[in-house]
Amino acid sequence: MSYIEVEPVKGSFDEVIGEIASDKSISHRCAIFSLLSDNPSFIKNYLQAEDTLNSLNISKLLGCRIENDGKNVTIIPPKELKEPPHILDCGNSGTAIRLFMGFLASQEGFFVLHGDEYLARRPMKRVANPLRSIGAKIDGREDGELAPISIRGAKLDGFKYESAISSAQVKSALILAGLNAKTTSFYKEFELSRDHSERMLKGMGADISNEDGYIKINPLTKPLKPLEITVPSDPSSGFFFAVLAAITPDSKVIIKDTTLNPTRVEAYKVLKNMGVYVEFVEKENVYEPIGDIVIKHCELNGVTVSENISWLIDELPALSIAMALAKGKSVVKNAEELRVKESDRISSVVESLKKCEVQVEEKEDGYEIVGGELNYAVIDSHGDHRIAMSFLVAGSRCGMRVEDTECINTSFPNFTKILNRFCGVKNGD
Ligand code: S3P
Repeated sequence: MSYIEVEPVKGSFDEVIGEIASDKSISHRCAIFSLLSDNPSFIKNYLQAEDTLNSLNISKLLGCRIENDGKNVTIIPPKELKEPPHILDCGNSGTAIRLFMGFLASQEGFFVLHGDEYLARRPMKRVANPLRSIGAKIDGREDGELAPISIRGAKLDGFKYESAISSAQVKSALILAGLNAKTTSFYKEFELSRDHSERMLKGMGADISNEDGYIKINPLTKPLKPLEITVPSDPSSGFFFAVLAAITPDSKVIIKDTTLNPTRVEAYKVLKNMGVYVEFVEKENVYEPIGDIVIKHCELNGVTVSENISWLIDELPALSIAMALAKGKSVVKNAEELRVKESDRISSVVESLKKCEVQVEEKEDGYEIVGGELNYAVIDSHGDHRIAMSFLVAGSRCGMRVEDTECINTSFPNFTKILNRFCGVKNGD
């Protein structure tokens, strides 16, 4: 099993980081939404990581021709979707399996979606059940809760659905089903989740609007315009280096060319509430606002996080490192969704912080951390890329060994190379 050892940072730094991995959510959507057009989509800076390469491969098995030069991708959609002779492998990605479920449930054909051992433990009824209620034929282990998921696609009914969870994956799956439904559909969530799907699909010409608190989805009457997009840097990946600067005295980083979509930069705002200097510099707007984020170390104070949890779901593990070094108590609540991510992130964070001798208490819906110091420990990533990278950043403070680190390749293959600009990093098997 691979591991990474990190040594503490020596001194301070002032760095511009221009090579943060491209946005994972947007890249997945490029691979999937290209299938809704009848013309080639051109995608610059497509994320070349395991999760998003799996999505490209699925689009290929569904009949797309893919040209990938290792940075830019052209997706040439088929005239008609192909019924693939293979299982569609989503690897570690909840986004891929759930969005493809929504898309394929409303397409003619038989499809089987599967993933790795971690994905095979994650709940799928949150997508399968609303799709079944409009006629989708979906099955899987435990009555459709667990992958492998089989789909016998067919034209579905329109829907009016209020989701009890705020999840961009559930929302996007339902929007994709609605685009190929018999009648107009309506979707509501209790708190806005990340909204890349709405923005991108509208940009491609889909008739999606807001009406009385619902997203109104009119079925497509013709193929959409293709995508022409430069994928920005992923703010969730950049956030590891934001925390690195926030916890290192006299240090500063600039994260370049990232999406500044408000549903994606909430964690930076929490850092700001903790006392860190954070500045957003918007430079352009293509589907979304895009620009740089400046982060400078300041003394950290404890914070309570209880709202907009879906905007923080990927960053809470890294935020917990800042909380562990802040003055006073920090509280994370209403965050039970953390339990069904790539790992149970509440128990992974609590277990790992305890190993670092941090005072932390686990709650059903979050945790409470009393800030102090972090100490060297040997951490198990639980196969969760965000846990692995968060505790490697903690290692910049006190040294750390993180085990089971292959998962970093699912979202941020050049993470350790960038981290190595700041502190000693050693890879081992
Ligand atoms: C994602 C949505 C989020 C996030 C995931 C990516 C997406 O999950 O955790 O990494 O691309 O739609 P939820 O659907 O649970 O919000």
